[in-house]
Amino acid sequence: MPTLNDIRSTFLNYFAKQGHEIVSSSPLVPRNDPTLMFTNSGMVQFKNLFTGVETRDYNRATSSQKCVRAGGKHNDLDNVGYTARHHTFFEMLGNFSFGDYFKDEAIPFAWELITKEFGIDKSKLLATVYHTDDEAFEIWKKVGVPEDRIIRIDTSDNFWQMGPTGPCGPCTEIFYDHGDHIWGGPPGSADEDGDRFIEIWNVVFMQNEQFEDGSMKALDMQSIDTGMGLERIGALLQGSHDNYDTDLFKALIEASADVTNADPYGDQNVHHRVIADHLRSTSFLLSDGVMPSNDGRGYVLRRIMRRAMRHAHLLGAKDPVMHRLVPALVQQMGAAYPELGRAQSMIEETLLQEETRFKQTLDRGLKLLDDELTDLDDGAPLPGAAAFKLYDTFGFPLDLTQDALREKGRTVDTDGFDSAMAEQKAKARAAWAGSGEAADSTIWFDIADQAGTTDFLGYETEVAEGQVMALVTNGAQIAEAGAGSEVQVILNQTPFYAESGGQIGDRGVIRVDGGLVRVSDTRKAAGVFIHIGKVESGLVTKGAAAQLEVDHARRTAIRANHSATHLLHEALREVLGDHVAQRGSLNADDRLRFDFSHNKALSADELRQVAIDVNRFIRQNTAVETRIMTPDDARALGAQALFGEKYGDEVRVVSMGEAATGKGQDGNTYSIELCGGTHVRQTGDIGTFVILSDGASSAGVRRIEALTGAEAFAHLEREALRMGEIASTLKAQPEEVMDRIKALMDERRALQNEVSQLKQQVAMGGGAGGGTETKEIGGKTFLAQALEGVSGKDLRGLIDAHKQKIGSGVILLIANDGGKVAVAAGVTDDLVGQISAVDVLKAAVPSVGGKGGGGRPDMAQGGGKDFSGADDAIKAAEALLAG
Ligand code: ALA
Repeated sequence: MPTLNDIRSTFLNYFAKQGHEIVSSSPLVPRNDPTLMFTNSGMVQFKNLFTGVETRDYNRATSSQKCVRAGGKHNDLDNVGYTARHHTFFEMLGNFSFGDYFKDEAIPFAWELITKEFGIDKSKLLATVYHTDDEAFEIWKKVGVPEDRIIRIDTSDNFWQMGPTGPCGPCTEIFYDHGDHIWGGPPGSADEDGDRFIEIWNVVFMQNEQFEDGSMKALDMQSIDTGMGLERIGALLQGSHDNYDTDLFKALIEASADVTNADPYGDQNVHHRVIADHLRSTSFLLSDGVMPSNDGRGYVLRRIMRRAMRHAHLLGAKDPVMHRLVPALVQQMGAAYPELGRAQSMIEETLLQEETRFKQTLDRGLKLLDDELTDLDDGAPLPGAAAFKLYDTFGFPLDLTQDALREKGRTVDTDGFDSAMAEQKAKARAAWAGSGEAADSTIWFDIADQAGTTDFLGYETEVAEGQVMALVTNGAQIAEAGAGSEVQVILNQTPFYAESGGQIGDRGVIRVDGGLVRVSDTRKAAGVFIHIGKVESGLVTKGAAAQLEVDHARRTAIRANHSATHLLHEALREVLGDHVAQRGSLNADDRLRFDFSHNKALSADELRQVAIDVNRFIRQNTAVETRIMTPDDARALGAQALFGEKYGDEVRVVSMGEAATGKGQDGNTYSIELCGGTHVRQTGDIGTFVILSDGASSAGVRRIEALTGAEAFAHLEREALRMGEIASTLKAQPEEVMDRIKALMDERRALQNEVSQLKQQVAMGGGAGGGTETKEIGGKTFLAQALEGVSGKDLRGLIDAHKQKIGSGVILLIANDGGKVAVAAGVTDDLVGQISAVDVLKAAVPSVGGKGGGGRPDMAQGGGKDFSGADDAIKAAEALLAG
């Protein structure tokens, strides 16, 4: 009997033999379809190939696509486990032609695969065609299906559409007749909903495109899109009617029975089925980057997880069990989906944490539920307020409460639940409005209410599609924005990171049909991401589908800076001590800034050691890991919490680096921080790290600025260039530069001394061209000089030398000292008492623009700023002497 793995391989290999490229499954979070919560069919990753917007180097493809159908409008969660064919997660096998072959090859391919490769009895097969599709009808006849088994259907059942818009076309479906022992009629009959005739394959003839205005146009090329549920065909080929009877599900059900010590079959079976199905969707969603949370995709995941956990509880499991089932799943599906194995430890950890937490409130919640029910009349629905309390206080998603009541034949008053929820939101808004935030900020609450919060895809991708949910200008919503206008764009999902935790907001472009918005910044409020930008061309309208693209180079640089900040933080703690705590940070594209508690400047050695440590972990090039957990669990791991941040009931924990004496579960993780930012994949992606400066930011807080990656390299290169220039100017090798500079400085000092001695000699009349003239005024010898290029500090020595030379007299020296004027007056000792040097100085300085000065009767000094008045100054002194 072929296993599900065999069947998947047979399918893919059959189409590979027919010239099809085997394409890996795309992630469960669609990057290219904003209207979809999860990838729900094989064609999602190819949708733009059908319309010709995108081309690839193959035009035939085959895939086994991971699909999740849960959440959104068609929410089958309630049925899963209780029926034979409902799943939250399933695999869709498909073959695709992009303008290559069409109906006359697609139908024979399907027929050959089913009847020859899979060996299904032809007499049990039927086909449906769209009522007007004579061509398909004829092809079925040609391959050998009797006319009475080809059924024309005139409803949308045989016209497949991707969604309200997009590629579409008539389809043909293949049905299997399980036999008349099972109730049900052929497709199109009144009893078609019975279980006897089961659809196993849908082959869509993609030939039209549906537009928003309701019109439908023929596509330029004709294509093929098919979908066959692996679980269904698997059940059929394994002789069963029930998907949960297949080898893969049996293995999971047995694993579930094992960890819960419960009988795998009988009454308990339904719980195991729920667990097996939910284990698959949960694990695959986690491995594709969805994390449990309280809104959007994360909330759908949480609902599925908690539903499985309640069923484990019903089986009597006292301790968390879900994480113990992951190895069985990886064993079954890890070969076909290697991402599952890669994420195994993260999946196990996340499941364990979620289940541990949920178990803490599960018993109390169930007790509350029982208490509520005892007061209710038979069959009366549970009041909405009680369901809301279970949701709000005990973490019971509404559908979990509904599931629990289902066994008791009761429902929930969902209107009452909705109004309790609305009331809580109104309170949150009132609290926000009163918190002093910007006056226009309540608009973001309005938008969040109308359109929901924004799903952030940016941890996984920088390119995605989104739908424009709102446009805001000047604090008011608008319907459209034309070229040239400044606008804030709100989308249902986005890869743009909104400024927070020190990381700056992303820039990039938003493209809509015929228009482009250049995004200059991204912020967030009330869970809504605000893309701030300008419409560069065309028109952006509310509701439009948009291609979103983050500026990749800029984000890459921001990532490197953010990850380097974590390494820097840890290196500072190692080098300076555990008192180092983050006080603020900036992770921009061109630099990083890190403020931390420490009360003195770092020594050159400390700075050097920090830079060496950071670069060592960069070169170690280990993977950067991200986990979601409770703040308490994160702290238990030794995670650094950021100063001033408020944490919700769950946090993102970023770990990097391996160190023998590290932290974390195994004690070998270098850095563990609570952080919502975006990071490099491997520490080596940081490139290199250079500290630019260490300074004081405020009392007891230091600030380090540093560079990474290309900026760090450019900085080092500039420095090296400068060093080269210095060396060549000095006519030295770079390694000789220091010695050269020291020698030059010594030489300069010696020359300065020599110059000053020479100048003094000149002033004293010695040396070439020197001369001092004296005059006899008022019976005293008067010597006055206006000197160029003599320093003020040399005047004192000169006065003394002159005194010696003339023996008795009055001296006035005025020096032009590089723009400033220095004035000194001296009186020999024999004349002190007759005239004061201070008076001589005071008489002289006004003429050179000075204001006084001072000293003793034998020596006084002052200054001025106008050397051109030197002659007048000398005259003023002469006048004083003349009496
Ligand atoms: N896209 C088609 C489906 O999902 C094949 O049924």
